[in-house]
Amino acid sequence: MLLQSVSANLYLVYEEWSDMKRSKIRMLLQSPHPQDLVLVKGWVRTRRDSKGFSFIEINDGSCLKNIQVIAQSSLPHYDDIQKLTTGSAVAISGALVASQGKGQLWEIQASDVTIISLAPESYPLQKKRHSDEFLRTIAHLRPRTNKYGAVFRIRSELSYAIHRFFRDRGFYYIHSPIITGSDCEGAGEMFRVTTLNPGDRLPDGHAFDASRDFFGRETGLTVSGQLSAEMFALALGDVYTFGPTFRAENSNTRRHAAEFWMIEPEMAFCNLSENMDMGETFIRYLIDHALHNCSEDMELFAKFVDPSLMATLDHILTSEFVRLPYREAVDILSAAGRSFEYPVRFGTDLQSEHEKYLTEIHFKRPVILYDYPKSIKPFYMRVNDDRQTVAAMDILAPGIGEIVGGSQREERLDILEARMDELGMNRADYEWYLDSRRYGSVPHSGFGMGFERLIMMITGITNIRDVIPFPRTPGNIEF
Ligand code: 4AD
Ligand code: MG
Repeated sequence: MLLQSVSANLYLVYEEWSDMKRSKIRMLLQSPHPQDLVLVKGWVRTRRDSKGFSFIEINDGSCLKNIQVIAQSSLPHYDDIQKLTTGSAVAISGALVASQGKGQLWEIQASDVTIISLAPESYPLQKKRHSDEFLRTIAHLRPRTNKYGAVFRIRSELSYAIHRFFRDRGFYYIHSPIITGSDCEGAGEMFRVTTLNPGDRLPDGHAFDASRDFFGRETGLTVSGQLSAEMFALALGDVYTFGPTFRAENSNTRRHAAEFWMIEPEMAFCNLSENMDMGETFIRYLIDHALHNCSEDMELFAKFVDPSLMATLDHILTSEFVRLPYREAVDILSAAGRSFEYPVRFGTDLQSEHEKYLTEIHFKRPVILYDYPKSIKPFYMRVNDDRQTVAAMDILAPGIGEIVGGSQREERLDILEARMDELGMNRADYEWYLDSRRYGSVPHSGFGMGFERLIMMITGITNIRDVIPFPRTPGNIEF
């Protein structure tokens, strides 16, 4: 349609770029060939009139920067061009030339401006700064702002980096099921999946009964792909999952979402300390990747979100993570001379105030805590020789708190079974899992990283709702 209205010459240039269609402005700004004829489709960010022409700033979402378009008054339909409002969609063809003005190297001298659609003045994203709270109420439009465009470009780039990291190290990508019958973490936070309505009578008059439900038993949305990943690690060696995870955690905090994405590597023949090495390397790799591949968007965060961001990330890149047994962390916290809201002693779960103290005040860098009391950790973690602690490890990051949770897994059948009994778990539900310990069991380890928490760390954004396209939190499922 649009292509028919432009010259043969332009059509050729456009053909050459057809595989770059989605990143037009980015390509133009990065490797411009002055005088080339170009075709750009995007949305008007601003427009202002001068004598004899109109300046239009357009953005196609491919990068932070806009491209400036000069539309001369001699163009056909110039009256209509002068009515272009913020948010309108246009297709511009013209010559890419060195800009006379300040602020941009290149601009387009338009030979044609086609108005695809005109946005009314009620468009909520007029040029001014909007609060994050307001933008959450229009989550469907916020990716059109500079900041959220940057967040979601980085989110995409990091997803790619995650796959690249593992692929380069010989890991296989496993798709663990989303609907499951086992609550891996045993924390009772599974969302129920059913085709029955609780309280309903079945057609034959019987009350709600899971055995008559779709799967013939109670089922829920996965809280972790780990148990599946373990089965595949014990077959393919090193594997990982990366997918959506669901937790009905009724905590309305800045770092919990009911639906989030988790990356879970699982490694055969791997002990706890090698697991920590992998976690540390992984975090550094992803920070480094963002700094090198998203520099323009990263600068926006350093400028407008967290002025200390670059220093913080640089510090994480260059300092070794502290490795500390949980028991010693308790000692440090007890000797801190502070009154924490939640007192700590051996056997209590650490709260965010404790994580903050360790990472931001005491050590001032990421901390890997390990050997947690077995009473606060799930059934699958390997019991240490002291019989009190398990080979767990959590990576805590300054400003974020827990970003990774992992462990060496219990590979000894008898001890695993005893642990399950101790926790009152129904062994029959886990026979398949226990088979992995019956046949060719080996030491193995893995961890889970919260993808949103990683993005928070890398962008300096402090609320998880602002790094996920359409956040799901208690009482909120608007979009
Ligand atoms: O520590 P968690 O619960 O560990 C597991 O689920 C293990 N099965 C992982 C494994 O060993 N394969 O969760 C792992 C990480 C946390 O460290 C945190 O970063 C993130 O997942 N996370 C959440 N992120 C956002 N919202 C929530 N409600 C989260 N719960 C956990
Ligand atoms: Mg955890």
